[in-house]
Amino acid sequence: MSRSNRRIILASRPVGIPQARHFELTTAELPALADGELLVENVYLSVDPAQRGYVNDEDNYAPPVAVGAVMRALAIGRVAESQHDAYPVGDYLYGWFGWQERCVCRPDAVLRRVDPRQASLSAAAGLLGINGLTAWMALHDIGRPRSGETVVISAAAGAVGALAGQLAHLAGCRVVAVVGSDDKGRRCVADYRYDAYLDYHQHIGDGLRRVCPEGVDVYFDNVGGDIADGVIRQMNRDGRVIQCGTISIPCWVPPPQGPRNEREILTRRLRMQGFVIFDHAARYDAVAAELAALAASGKLRCDEDIEQGLERAPQALVDVYAGRNTGKKLIQLPL
Ligand SMILES: NC(=O)c1ccc[n+]([C@@H]2O[C@H](COP(=O)([O-])OP(=O)(O)OC[C@H]3O[C@@H](n4cnc5c(N)ncnc54)[C@H](OP(=O)(O)O)[C@@H]3O)[C@@H](O)[C@H]2O)c1
Repeated sequence: MSRSNRRIILASRPVGIPQARHFELTTAELPALADGELLVENVYLSVDPAQRGYVNDEDNYAPPVAVGAVMRALAIGRVAESQHDAYPVGDYLYGWFGWQERCVCRPDAVLRRVDPRQASLSAAAGLLGINGLTAWMALHDIGRPRSGETVVISAAAGAVGALAGQLAHLAGCRVVAVVGSDDKGRRCVADYRYDAYLDYHQHIGDGLRRVCPEGVDVYFDNVGGDIADGVIRQMNRDGRVIQCGTISIPCWVPPPQGPRNEREILTRRLRMQGFVIFDHAARYDAVAAELAALAASGKLRCDEDIEQGLERAPQALVDVYAGRNTGKKLIQLPL
């Protein structure tokens, strides 16, 4: 096998949302495998809003990707060579394999083993990947939706949001989507079982009063910022706010200013909790099995937005930030 590997490296460090010019397609030779290492051939590369955090050095949860290094990314790949008995050639894995054709790594890069009989390989990166796992765990663990309650979800047509919306519907809730266009709103109602939607280009307060006349019990916040400020002011007593994402904040330094919500949280007795999927690895397989069963029985739909070719990855990330994705954004590589 050729040892040549095409990969997308970080060419310069962006401030705020990365653009395609911050990345570069390069080729490098793969090293020989050391004891305990695997060579994984990527099949699907994940494109995730969190990747902005991986390249910025503003408030990092983990050290940022170095300029010149392969872009950090989750991927689905197949073991092509192995120096580890627990990972035989031919196994499919979901892990930190980067935006590149092939990756030499150790097992600590692996998030989950992929069983192609459970769902398609692409579903392993979305429905059963961080998007589905986050939708399920954040909604149930923090949101604790009860039948008859109103759940509002932002970035509602996206990979996490579309699944969270359907899961909230299955929990017997009235579910309201916050989205960037009428087209996405209509899809939320037609395909993802939302009851109503609000385009966030309208005034959030007025719009929410119209679509949530009984207030909001659970807010699944994927975006933060003005939308979150507006929803929190419509929450019912004892409401729960799931802080899952902050995609609407273009830059964290200096911190954006907004209304202070302490009084709302106090007087409405709200609970607000952050969620990070990587804290919950021990439950990935159990929750993935539940998601796979729901999808197989037709109760859960997961749309995918798949592009072909490694070179598409940087622009695909830009497109996700611009709301141009229709479902889970993936890059497919030829196997
Ligand atoms: N906490 C965790 O562990 C965890 C795990 C996975 C994902 N997440 C978060 O979940 C959120 C959704 O991720 P995803 O992978 O499912 O992506 P996604 O929702 O498929 O795509 C992102 C969507 O965000 C919306 N958006 C972009 N800019 C916006 C803005 N300024 N204001 C409002 N909405 C905006 C766009 O939809 P519109 O066209 O509707 O604007 C876009 O399609 C992200 O914030 C991500 O970081 C968190």
